[in-house]
Amino acid sequence: MKIAFAKVGRPKKGAVVASVLEGGKMSPTAAALDKENDGLIGKAVAASRFTGKAHQSLTVFTPGGRVLLYGLGDPAKLDPQWAEAAGGGIYAALAQSGEKEATVVMDRDDAGCAERAAHVALGAALRAYRFDKYRTTMKEDDKPSLEKLTFMVKDHAEATKLYDVEAAIAEGVAFTRDLVSEPPNVLYPESFAEHCVALKKLGVDVDVLGEKEMTKLGMGALLGVGQGSRRESKLVVMRWNGGAKGDKPVAFVGKGVCFDTGGISIKPAGGMEDMKFDMGGAGVVSGLMRALAGRKAKANVIGVIGLVENMPDGNALRPSDVVTSMSGQTIEIINTDAEGRLVLADALWYTQDKFKPAFMIDLATLTGAMMVSLGEETCGYFANDDKLSGALKAAGDAVGEAMWRMPLGDAYNKQMDSDIADVKNAGPRWGGAITAACFLERFVNKMPWIHMDIAGVTWSRKDRSTTPKGASGFGVRALDRLVRDYVEKA
Ligand code: BES
Ligand code: MN
Ligand code: ZN
Repeated sequence: MKIAFAKVGRPKKGAVVASVLEGGKMSPTAAALDKENDGLIGKAVAASRFTGKAHQSLTVFTPGGRVLLYGLGDPAKLDPQWAEAAGGGIYAALAQSGEKEATVVMDRDDAGCAERAAHVALGAALRAYRFDKYRTTMKEDDKPSLEKLTFMVKDHAEATKLYDVEAAIAEGVAFTRDLVSEPPNVLYPESFAEHCVALKKLGVDVDVLGEKEMTKLGMGALLGVGQGSRRESKLVVMRWNGGAKGDKPVAFVGKGVCFDTGGISIKPAGGMEDMKFDMGGAGVVSGLMRALAGRKAKANVIGVIGLVENMPDGNALRPSDVVTSMSGQTIEIINTDAEGRLVLADALWYTQDKFKPAFMIDLATLTGAMMVSLGEETCGYFANDDKLSGALKAAGDAVGEAMWRMPLGDAYNKQMDSDIADVKNAGPRWGGAITAACFLERFVNKMPWIHMDIAGVTWSRKDRSTTPKGASGFGVRALDRLVRDYVEKA
């Protein structure tokens, strides 16, 4: 969908979106349309339940065309999150309406209007995401009709400039959603790595390590997970050097299990298809790199993703096997379905060893236990550093990605001690998201680190204001914001 900005005026074609405040006060545009049409708009409002509450909408047909009235709610609460939800709501109301073009007339001309317009546009762009490449027989009626949204606002040049940055982030989110949506026969470690290599044209340095290189590095944990797969495991290292030469980089590390059958500890058939999104952490790291490169972030950022497929096979890991990780620590395999932590153990160790970053944040669809804890609305995270923790929470709040800090601690950590090796890969059922985080912590030396367990938030089972049902891209925006506010402004 095309997005454009223009100065405030009367749209010449397509649908018009005009606003109404809570209580029914019409915007100048809504009032003018009402007057030209002998009070038609007012009558429609009076005959309906539309009162101008935030995100309510009402469609009115005038002889001149469709008018979508959109509820502003309380004018004191028109913050960026309101704006993004409004953009998503406006897009959803018009997407399949039959209109090809629509113009949102934002005739409030307060100081924040350009920024608000950029965020309304971002919300619409995020909501307009679709993954239709495998639908070959889609009915015309199911396809979106809306091709162009224009936002009329005072300072439209400023809004255009602000939106350029947001558009790069929307592209990063779409990149993540595409990767997460792809089926695992198409997206496997090697083909995933090729999508990362394509980021070179945006100025990202990309290196792909194969099994030979990882064997040399001693990555017995990551390689152990992949050894039952026909597909070669890969480690992709992406670097965006937008900061000053000597500035320490920050690092993001992603779990990229392109499909998780559970391995020999095989999962039940019901719902196993969800495990195509077990590469969600790697998807977010890749989309984040794309967003940062797209908006030319002034920061040095490393993205490392461990790409494997967890399959049952004659050569697969067995429960009771012992593997040696790159850190030197030995790991007893209790459950081959606790594979993500094995991938991250080596990816985290490699990242800190090679790049000595100022901090590391890993993302993983790591545990069903996290979904039991926080459901599909909030991402649980674990932190060994209060300052970084606060910065992540604030970044999430700013972009509408809810985060909740979970505890670490010795009492949990010792539950991962093994009788035969240094550590085991699965502990008791209770507190399973926490003991998984404790396992990872054993592979992080003294440096600020956060683990985000995105198992519940990676895939949305319903439409949300700025996220259509399906791959959410959750995390790209919060981490982009963290880089903006915590790294670039530092
Ligand atoms: N990928 C799964 C976790 C998961 C489950 C993510 C559902 C998204 C939705 C992970 O590899 C896994 O299987 N974890 C096990 C760990 C257990 C064996 C210790 C789990 O959560 O049951
Ligand atoms: Mn698993
Ligand atoms: Zn998994």
